[in-house]
Amino acid sequence: MSETSGEQARKPMIEVRGLYKSFGDQEILRGVDLVVEEGTTCVLMGVSGSGKTVLIKHLVGLLHPDRGTVRVDGEDLSQLNEAGLDGLRRKMGILFQANALFDSLNVFDNVAFPLRERTRMSEPEIREAVNKALAVVGLTHAALRFPGELSGGMQKRVGFARAAILQPKILLYDDPTAGLDPLTTASVNEVIFTGKHQLGATSLVITPDVASAFRAGDKLALMHEGRIVEFGPPEEFRRSEHPAVKAFLNNWLRRQSQRPHKS
Ligand SMILES: Nc1ncnc2c1ncn2[C@@H]1O[C@H](COP(=O)(O)OP(=O)(O)OP(=O)(O)O)[C@@H](O)[C@H]1O
Ligand SMILES: [Mg+2]
Repeated sequence: MSETSGEQARKPMIEVRGLYKSFGDQEILRGVDLVVEEGTTCVLMGVSGSGKTVLIKHLVGLLHPDRGTVRVDGEDLSQLNEAGLDGLRRKMGILFQANALFDSLNVFDNVAFPLRERTRMSEPEIREAVNKALAVVGLTHAALRFPGELSGGMQKRVGFARAAILQPKILLYDDPTAGLDPLTTASVNEVIFTGKHQLGATSLVITPDVASAFRAGDKLALMHEGRIVEFGPPEEFRRSEHPAVKAFLNNWLRRQSQRPHKS
């Protein structure tokens, strides 16, 4: 995909304004503002429990704001009925921490599932689309295997292929590399962060992998005390003077420098 020329304004694909959400007396989101522009990748970071998953659940209508608005592809979620919400969800590929593959279906049928459910494509067309998707994630050889026979990283890649098979305009990832070893993490990140180039999709990625965030994010965001306290391109984010960003990055650097000493 070619880069846009100059400062051409892009359409906001995800637009969160003044979002508040509490559970009981616990105020989790306290005025979140976040805009992800069409065709860009935004990486959302923040310490565990800061509310990243709560935020992403609002984008698919799994949670409803106490206050504030959530717009996706120009549509205000609070104005949509179930059918409208379902229509919007069809534009989204979602990959949560658990990838929820169908254990009784082989890899091919898992990836084909959304096509069979939601399109009128013929079997030969489906075969072609699925084979292409499996090639993208490097799993052509595993098409006939079942999820239980795959490694964690392979399962994640199948999950990605299934999430992306309908060529959604929007891809949401909630910590897709959780629990994977560093090598597998690298291969999954490769797939996720190159996904946008293959699809031209808008991506919002929650990941603790700061190195990948810096490498592949167009914009980086930090969630802290219920708000997005920093948002910008990687160089800007790196130079942030916000104490929470500095602490977050220092903590990450410290962990990095400790790594080689462990055996
Ligand atoms: N349905 C719920 N009911 C009550 N509390 C909830 C609910 N969902 C989330 N929370 C609380 O909201 C806070 C933020 O949770 P969230 O899952 O968004 O964190 P997170 O930033 O995604 O963390 P992690 O990086 O560990 O995934 C936590 O204190 C959690 O206990
Ligand atoms: Mg989470």
